[in-house]
Amino acid sequence: MSRLPHPIPYQGSKRALAPLIAPYVPRDVATFYEPFAGSAAVTLYAANLGLAKRFVVGDSLGPIIELWKSIVERPSDTSARYRSVWEGQKDGDLEYFNLVRARYNSERDPVDLLYIIARCVKNAVRFNAKGNFTQSVDKRRLGMRPERMREAIDGASHLLRGRVEFRVGDWLDTLSDAGREDFVYMDPPYLGTSVGRDKRYAEQMAQDRLCDGLAELNARSVRLALSYDGQTGEKVYGPPLPDSLGLDRLQLHAGRSSQATLQGRDDETIESLYLSPGLSDHDGSVIRKPKAIQQELAL
Ligand SMILES: C[S@@+](CC[C@H](N)C(=O)[O-])C[C@H]1O[C@@H](n2cnc3c(N)ncnc32)[C@H](O)[C@@H]1O
Repeated sequence: MSRLPHPIPYQGSKRALAPLIAPYVPRDVATFYEPFAGSAAVTLYAANLGLAKRFVVGDSLGPIIELWKSIVERPSDTSARYRSVWEGQKDGDLEYFNLVRARYNSERDPVDLLYIIARCVKNAVRFNAKGNFTQSVDKRRLGMRPERMREAIDGASHLLRGRVEFRVGDWLDTLSDAGREDFVYMDPPYLGTSVGRDKRYAEQMAQDRLCDGLAELNARSVRLALSYDGQTGEKVYGPPLPDSLGLDRLQLHAGRSSQATLQGRDDETIESLYLSPGLSDHDGSVIRKPKAIQQELAL
């Protein structure tokens, strides 16, 4: 399998887990929905495997959906504009990033967003409650090079053009027309009561709101997969979803935490994947990536 295009370098993207999630997508899907899309890693993976006829990509953050439209519908123009913003920076000139970030925060230009995502610390997006981008510049790396970005943009456009609809808004609005012949992959932001606001996302999601929405989807027989809680070493994040939703819970091996590796520990990160009943007959043991896929992702 050739390298999958991934034009939006989002920390927390599901790019590495997509190969473990895709096997649970049924083979008869009319429309594949990803209503918390971010970098839409699972949609790209599913489109590459031809797992659905049509895709709906949604997010409540308007500029990220504008960025997706620009990537898919105007790939040449988007990569040319990325090149021009990227080439505006000079090695060692950290102020340039702040200028582009301030311009994004006042004008919300999607290509400025792509540059600041690519150039910020560890690609770890941070937004305040007004949707302003707050993460700082990565002092050591210049962000994805224009040539590589062009290849990723062309590849993503090739996979999705003519097959995708983009929607800005709350996940339940994006899913309003999903039915029993469709499939939904969800990766909502996690709101822990003890940790407060999740600064990675402008918008937050409380667990009761999530559960109400899932119950509504169950009632409409919409088949779904949801990434949610997990565990790194001893540290557990996110309370599990209630059994009353009737979802199966798989444990996926997401890799080693880079933080732990830096501190000389060997902690592994395990993420839950909740599935509609009947999509998996797995026995509950941790599911790991085959070696060939690990090597491909490391490239
Ligand atoms: C964990 S990220 C998804 C990352 C994604 N799986 C990827 O591969 O990049 C969650 C996304 O949900 C969006 N979001 C937050 N609240 C939302 C809501 N109520 N409805 C729709 N999208 C929301 C955020 O803007 C963010 O892009």
